Amino acid sequence: MDLFGSSGLSSSRLASTNGLITVTFLAALVSAIAFVSSRIISHPLKHIPGSTLATLSTWPLFWQSIRGKRANWIVQQHQKHGPVIRIAPHKVCISSDTGIKLIYGNKAVKTHVYDTFRYRGVKMCIGLPDVKSAHSRRKALLPAFSRQNLLEMEPVIRNHLQHFLDWLEKFEVTNTPVDTFKWFRYLTFDVITDIAFGQQIGMLQSGDSHFIGQVELRNQRNGLYAIRARDSWASAGEANRPRVDILSRIEEGGKVDPSTALSDEEVIAEMMEILNAGSDTTANTAMFTSWELARRPDVQTKLHEELKAAFPDPKESLDIERLERLPFFDGVCREGLRLHAPIPSYLERYSPPGGITVCEVPIPAGTIVGMQAYTNHRDPSVYPDPDNFAPERWYEATAAMKTNYFPFSAGPRACVGLK
Ligand code: HEM
Repeated sequence: MDLFGSSGLSSSRLASTNGLITVTFLAALVSAIAFVSSRIISHPLKHIPGSTLATLSTWPLFWQSIRGKRANWIVQQHQKHGPVIRIAPHKVCISSDTGIKLIYGNKAVKTHVYDTFRYRGVKMCIGLPDVKSAHSRRKALLPAFSRQNLLEMEPVIRNHLQHFLDWLEKFEVTNTPVDTFKWFRYLTFDVITDIAFGQQIGMLQSGDSHFIGQVELRNQRNGLYAIRARDSWASAGEANRPRVDILSRIEEGGKVDPSTALSDEEVIAEMMEILNAGSDTTANTAMFTSWELARRPDVQTKLHEELKAAFPDPKESLDIERLERLPFFDGVCREGLRLHAPIPSYLERYSPPGGITVCEVPIPAGTIVGMQAYTNHRDPSVYPDPDNFAPERWYEATAAMKTNYFPFSAGPRACVGLK
């Protein structure tokens, strides 16, 4: 029976169609083999283990990132494949603490993902790629965050804290649950805008979040908030500023050492950075630490006892210097940041010229390589029973505990707000 006669398709056309399909199939097969070979057999990172999918494609890493599960997934990958792994075709992740100095040391270069930290083409400190290019910016910022300045800011911080405590009391009286995500953000935004730019946002007084919404919107656009805050700070004039803020310190520093003076655009970029870097990180740390305390009455009791012994007069305010010397309080803060580091995930750098070798695994120069606090902070060989919130573990911290603890990153590009 001539099946095709009626449709007019001749046997020669059929043969050529079949031929085309075969050629296409073979071409696809050859490309697939070439692709797999380029990612697995001949790739410069072929000696580094990882899940087959992750070595073939960036999709698993991307998928886990959009699910908000990237840090957990990387921990699982380390458990399966060891301390040096491929998490994407061109990305390596390390969990051994021997990697910290090599990756975040003086030769560290941040990858292109940091390019987005900019205002109108001017990079924020965090976006500057290497130690050299960030040197003068950090030199301009760091004195403003010195211990002495922090101590001078204490009364300002205390004032906002009092408003926060007033709210907590109101909630307690009316037996209202507290949305700590919201209220700690009000607190940290009020504090950071005040200590950084001398602005009184007063979200705690009004209990109103419109400012956060405005900042988020304006950040996406062009840093309008920062420009407005800078202008009102400048027009207030030195004599009328109620106290010394971070912006004034930066300006003063630039006058003393002109090599650290910032341009107008750099000032705006840094204001945006300080506003973002200093608000959510601190709010989330406070929120998670309170959550841990809320579910651990034993820890709460012990903390109360230590505070009551150190500050017997309940009307006395808690000063930073005395607080710092309380070992249990110190352990509570450390455990909060260990288990709930607000920046827990992979901080990527390029492997420096000449490459690095970690756990006897060579990582070629230019490879994207990083570590994540989330993994090291939960290493059971360093922190036994790692998921347990145990402030006492810091009483006699081992060298390994100290090395593996990096909530503020490490090395010459660690957080400037660390103190
Ligand atoms: C609990 C609070 C905080 C934590 C856990 C934290 C953590 C970090 C981390 C992990 C980095 C390195 C990011 C990277 O390499 O991609 C960083 C950088 C930075 N942080 Fe913080 N931060 C905190 C608070 C602050 C505060 C209060 C400020 C300022 C007001 C601040 C300003 C900065 C700046 C300017 C950088 C960039 C440093 C550089 O690139 O050289 N941070 N922070």
